[in-house]
Amino acid sequence: MIDITNRVRCKELLSKICTAEEAAAFIKPGMNVGTSGFTPSGYPKAVPLALAARMEKEPFKINLWTGASTGDEEDGALARANGINFRMPYQTNKDMRNALNSGKMEYFDYHLSESAQLARCGFINGKIDVAIVEVCAITEEGNLIPTTSLGNTASYVQSADVVIVEVNTSQPLELEGMHDIYVPMDPPNRLPIPVVKPNDRIGTPYIPCSPDKIKFIVPCDITDKVRPLGEIDENSKKMSQNFLKLLKEEVAAGRMPKNLLPLQSGVGAVANAVISGFVDSDLKNLTVYTEVVQDGMFDLIDAGKLDFASGTSLSPSPEGLKRFYDNIEEYRKYIMLRPQEVSNSPEVARRIGVIAMNTAIEVDIYGNVNSTHIMGSKMMNGIGGSGDFARNAYLTVFFTVSTAKGGAISSIVPMVSHVDHGSQDIDIIVTEQGLADLRGKSPRQRAEEIIENCVHPDYKPMLRDYYERALVETKNAHTPHILSEALSWHDRFLKTGTMKVTE
Ligand code: COA
Repeated sequence: MIDITNRVRCKELLSKICTAEEAAAFIKPGMNVGTSGFTPSGYPKAVPLALAARMEKEPFKINLWTGASTGDEEDGALARANGINFRMPYQTNKDMRNALNSGKMEYFDYHLSESAQLARCGFINGKIDVAIVEVCAITEEGNLIPTTSLGNTASYVQSADVVIVEVNTSQPLELEGMHDIYVPMDPPNRLPIPVVKPNDRIGTPYIPCSPDKIKFIVPCDITDKVRPLGEIDENSKKMSQNFLKLLKEEVAAGRMPKNLLPLQSGVGAVANAVISGFVDSDLKNLTVYTEVVQDGMFDLIDAGKLDFASGTSLSPSPEGLKRFYDNIEEYRKYIMLRPQEVSNSPEVARRIGVIAMNTAIEVDIYGNVNSTHIMGSKMMNGIGGSGDFARNAYLTVFFTVSTAKGGAISSIVPMVSHVDHGSQDIDIIVTEQGLADLRGKSPRQRAEEIIENCVHPDYKPMLRDYYERALVETKNAHTPHILSEALSWHDRFLKTGTMKVTE
């Protein structure tokens, strides 16, 4: 067995060390299980793998609550074992996506900032039964030092009667001190979250936990299976340039300070490209108040342009993770991880005035955004934290390449096939074609701005034709639509494989 005795500093807990199989045997059918993990970072690995192996032999299901997506050892293994009855609040795993779209499991896609409160208050299938959490160490008092993410871990530990701890020796002990743990009280006792700057420390560097709750301690050395980042392609570079130009104009107009406002950026290649664009700019003293800390932020630190980054998870590429581990003493000065109730808090986002930069699947001519559903029906990942930030940011920006599926789909459509973010939440749409500034604009003005600036040339005449006919056909309409046609673009793609009119 892997030696974790130096990491279990509370010596009375040494007797709880056991195998993953012994811990997994505690979990009963129908239990509500809350785990650490936010992106493929800081999630438990050994116990979910042992649980999935048990489910393969004696089929049963649990309800699984996490911070957000987790790695394949958890979401993938349990989905393949058909072991999940109910899952919340976010996922990105291919096997899980197939399971939830085919109805093999129920999926509750929900705002990340609110998920811990839902679980604490018993809104979903009752209370949490057991928390499974990855830590890098247990303190002398039995408190838990988290690893590369924080997510909902502190709240799940607080609510659970039984805690299973995985002590992961692949996670460096230098992570201790990078976390700031604060779990808000529930109404009517909630107080303001006292964060006024990204680097404000308001809590403890450990998750408070009574040693009595810890029933099993499992050694593990499986590494975070972080995802590779896509190449920064030409489209991402153009989007980044289009957006940086706008930010410079905002500074010049006096609407933002020279070092901007705290940046929030979503997951994935586009977000990373945009952050990388900041590295080559003349901007400095930047701050970040976000969910996930990605490679681009290490670039900003190395370039001397980032003063501080607050998030809930480190979500780098495999190279980025190595770079972080190799230089952890330096990077830890600039990065703090908080519970997602705080990193994604609408109250804090509104107070400090974040610049929210997220990616859309599709956008319509009036500025409504679909972030979750392919062709209106098939779940991709989930809303994640995009809604937490979109509604509350100082400036809300959505990026999307103007076409998808090799040009067969226009990402700008007459009407989105599913709405995650209503037009009232959206300030700016950026594609590789250009940028639409929707602030203070009526639906008709928004349509003109989006069609003119964001649509791919292959689809511009079609969209203009739709909009102009809608204007004529619906004379008394604030938001002109021809309802019988509004979703015909999606229908055409599903029937013919392209949104283009082919006859
Ligand atoms: N219509 C149909 N399919 C589309 C599409 C469109 N308009 N635009 C993209 N797609 C498809 C792509 O073809 C791809 O399909 P594939 O998996 O079969 O190859 C898939 O959607 C993902 O597209 P991709 O361009 O790879 O997206 P991405 O990695 O940049 O992610 C989101 C984009 C929207 C899926 C992702 O950002 C997300 O899940 N967002 C919601 C959560 C969020 O914003 N989190 C951050 C908040 S802090």
